[in-house]
Amino acid sequence: MSEVLLRVEDLRVAFPVYGGVLQRIVGRLPAVDGVHLTIYRQETLGLVGESGSGKTTIGRALVGILPATTPDALIQGRAWFYASNLEEPVDLLQLFSRRGHRRYSRPLQLQYRRRIQMVFQDPFSSLNPRLSVEQIIAEPLQIHFPELSRAEIRDRIGWLLEKVGLQPDDGIRYPHEFSGGQRQRIGLARALATHPDLVICDEPVSALDVSIQAQVINLMEDLQEEFGMAYLFIAHDLSVVHHISKRIAVMYLGHLVEVGPADAVYFTPKHPYTQALISAVPIAKPGYRRERIPLRGEVPSLLHKPSGCPFHPRCPRAQPDCAEHLPQLEEKAPGHWVACPYAD
Ligand SMILES: Nc1ncnc2c1ncn2[C@@H]1O[C@H](COP(=O)(O)OP(=O)(O)OP(=O)(O)O)[C@@H](O)[C@H]1O
Ligand code: SF4
Ligand SMILES: [Mg+2]
Repeated sequence: MSEVLLRVEDLRVAFPVYGGVLQRIVGRLPAVDGVHLTIYRQETLGLVGESGSGKTTIGRALVGILPATTPDALIQGRAWFYASNLEEPVDLLQLFSRRGHRRYSRPLQLQYRRRIQMVFQDPFSSLNPRLSVEQIIAEPLQIHFPELSRAEIRDRIGWLLEKVGLQPDDGIRYPHEFSGGQRQRIGLARALATHPDLVICDEPVSALDVSIQAQVINLMEDLQEEFGMAYLFIAHDLSVVHHISKRIAVMYLGHLVEVGPADAVYFTPKHPYTQALISAVPIAKPGYRRERIPLRGEVPSLLHKPSGCPFHPRCPRAQPDCAEHLPQLEEKAPGHWVACPYAD
């Protein structure tokens, strides 16, 4: 069995809804609602689901961005992270919480922080346009390796740029001088600078042309081979996710509805939602044919989330009791978990 890198237990993120003249909190949006998830060392776990299902929120909660960007968000649960440089696992949600800043010493926080990095969809806005590439990559190096001299940092930047397929002297240029694909390479170099165990990639290739997408995906696979980190790969494009992932997890309205080996989820999905989602993807596999299952209606609003199984108003196989009980993930085949009692 592979070694566990991250074990997420019952993660819940509820965003505030403001109302009234005083803009008080009048409600909560359950964007992530009781997610259990394990990521193994050096694997790629794909995370898919329609827009608004909570994928980005999971990524942002794990890297600790949420407490700063949305201070009123309620974040609950555990996310045990087994960093390779430290013996004890730490709960990332505690560590990155506002209370965690007082509870954990700064050096200890940095020890964990450097082991988990994020690459964003939009390389245009995620790279500071006023900094040169060298300054962008130097930032994490200076924070996490203060013992490095300026010359050593420059050497390391050149080495990282080469690793991601750029020229060492590209460092003196600015983000706007690069294409989208090259910018995503810069984002990868910055993420790799701290030798992370886990890189959370939020739609890393969605903004790129198809031919460039393939180059960046190949590069990500090569880098994983060489550096040995795990990816949480968030994307809409199921064929890309299937290509890169060892396992795939499927989200619907803040819930994880299916998780299993990539081939099993892609070719023989068991949850009615995954079946509908995947039936829309054309497959080039000899002798393989699948029927299109139309998804009825729109994704309901999180503010009026359906009771019981959140998919029941759209589910072609819904039974009368589906509106009453929230199905839990059950292991239907080795390593293949599905949250539906009526699944195949
Ligand atoms: N800072 C925030 N404040 C309030 N609501 C938010 C915030 N961030 C996200 N949401 C809401 O939480 C839900 C989940 O959003 P999230 O961005 O995680 O979805 P997603 O699966 O990444 O979607 P997409 O595929 O479109 O990127 C959405 O309804 C979104 O509107
Ligand atoms: S629990 Fe019921 S509504 Fe939900 S996916 Fe299964 S059959 Fe459909
Ligand atoms: Mg998103």
